[in-house]
Amino acid sequence: MKNIKNYIADHNDRFINELIELLKKPSISADSAYKEDVTETAKLVKKSLKKAGCDVTEICETKGYPVVYGEKIIDPNLPTVLVYGHYDVQPPDPMDLWDSPPFEPVIKKTKIHPEGAIFARGACDDKGQMYMHVKAVEFMVKTNQLPCNVKFMIEGEEEVGSDSLEDFLKENHKKLANDIILISDTGMMAKDVPSITTGLRGLSYVEVEVIGPNRDLHSGIYGGAVPNPINVLSKMIASLHDENNHITIPGFYDKVEEVSDAERAEMAKAPFDIEEYKAHLDIDAVYGEKGYTTPERYSIRPTLDVNGIWGGYTGEGAKTVIASKAYAKISMRLVPHQDPDEITELFKKHFESIAPKGVRVKVAPHHGGLPYVTNIDSTGYRAAAKAYETTFGKTAIPERTGGSIPIVALFEQVLGSKTILMGFGLDSDAIHSPNEHFGIWNYLKGIETIPYFYKYFTELSK
Ligand code: BES
Ligand code: MN
Ligand code: MN
Repeated sequence: MKNIKNYIADHNDRFINELIELLKKPSISADSAYKEDVTETAKLVKKSLKKAGCDVTEICETKGYPVVYGEKIIDPNLPTVLVYGHYDVQPPDPMDLWDSPPFEPVIKKTKIHPEGAIFARGACDDKGQMYMHVKAVEFMVKTNQLPCNVKFMIEGEEEVGSDSLEDFLKENHKKLANDIILISDTGMMAKDVPSITTGLRGLSYVEVEVIGPNRDLHSGIYGGAVPNPINVLSKMIASLHDENNHITIPGFYDKVEEVSDAERAEMAKAPFDIEEYKAHLDIDAVYGEKGYTTPERYSIRPTLDVNGIWGGYTGEGAKTVIASKAYAKISMRLVPHQDPDEITELFKKHFESIAPKGVRVKVAPHHGGLPYVTNIDSTGYRAAAKAYETTFGKTAIPERTGGSIPIVALFEQVLGSKTILMGFGLDSDAIHSPNEHFGIWNYLKGIETIPYFYKYFTELSK
């Protein structure tokens, strides 16, 4: 890849400013108030693909938000890389915890990013990481170095579960045909430790409701004598883990793939500093399932977490009341062989069975997603590893991550395609949190590294 470094140096400011324009759009897929902003963002992405050199660009309507498609086919006999990313973002709240408004990007230096980082919702997840691919393709097209065909599929509802995508894949099987899928929507271990994500957890997500007396009650007149839905819900939730922090739902672990001692030993070699981990989060102890290390707990083990819990009086001051209803949102991260629908069913059965007399419970499933693992013995992995070797001068470490990208398993099921996950974000970039940011160094390093993937993938595919 001749002159990639010079090209980046020459166009550095423009690369940053274009990303900033994209980040100004509040493309919040979860909130229907932003519907127009989401579709406007799709149009902006389409334009950027055209400008980068795609010959075909389209907005493809789906049942939900549109998919932006682009392609540059240079020779049907050459391999085709399909880039996937998402232009939608998580809601920014709680707003008061942002140091600057989430859709008014600013560049600030941080300890980890002395070169500066762009602060905005979506900076890292996933507009910044997606846009690295657009700029990498721009470089290859403009300098006549695109070694193979490229297709883009950038969706607008990843953060709400990619509900329309299964149908989209089935209906556009031919159009999306590829030899490998390339995604930057995960992280790397550290700025000097490149890593290739080899696994994603699956997801089962439920909302529960505990219903007690037919109305809110005076907590003095009735307190102590009737089931309090919030007390009951708290107890029920607490019982979902035992004293070793194992999940107590019968059958929950039945299909969990036990990772071999050899693989666990391999994982333990990856750099991980528990003291640094605690210091970053301001906690004085970690927490989790007995018998597993912290990296194992967040990658190869399934989990159950309450994501939100509410009911009763939460306003200012004290109101003496027993609420009629209590609610919680609960996520379960799943590992290979656990099926989201099956787990949701097991949860529902168990949760209903532990409800004490005097309350009724309702369990409503939300979106889910299948887990994914891939092998490092593949052309795609070798191409990615060589690309990192070239631009970082270091061997990338394979890493299974705790997050979920449900579409990846569907790509394999529906299109028969393998995915390579080249993430450039850091865990400290605060994705989904207030003050999300993406290091400028990481952004530019991604743009520099990606073209080498194309080069090596094409060479190794011969
Ligand atoms: N990009 C993330 C997933 C991710 C982040 C994986 C960091 C690994 C490391 C993605 O946008 C995301 O947030 N996914 C959701 C699931 C989805 C169904 C809402 C998640 O993991 O919570
Ligand atoms: Mn993402
Ligand atoms: Mn996300």
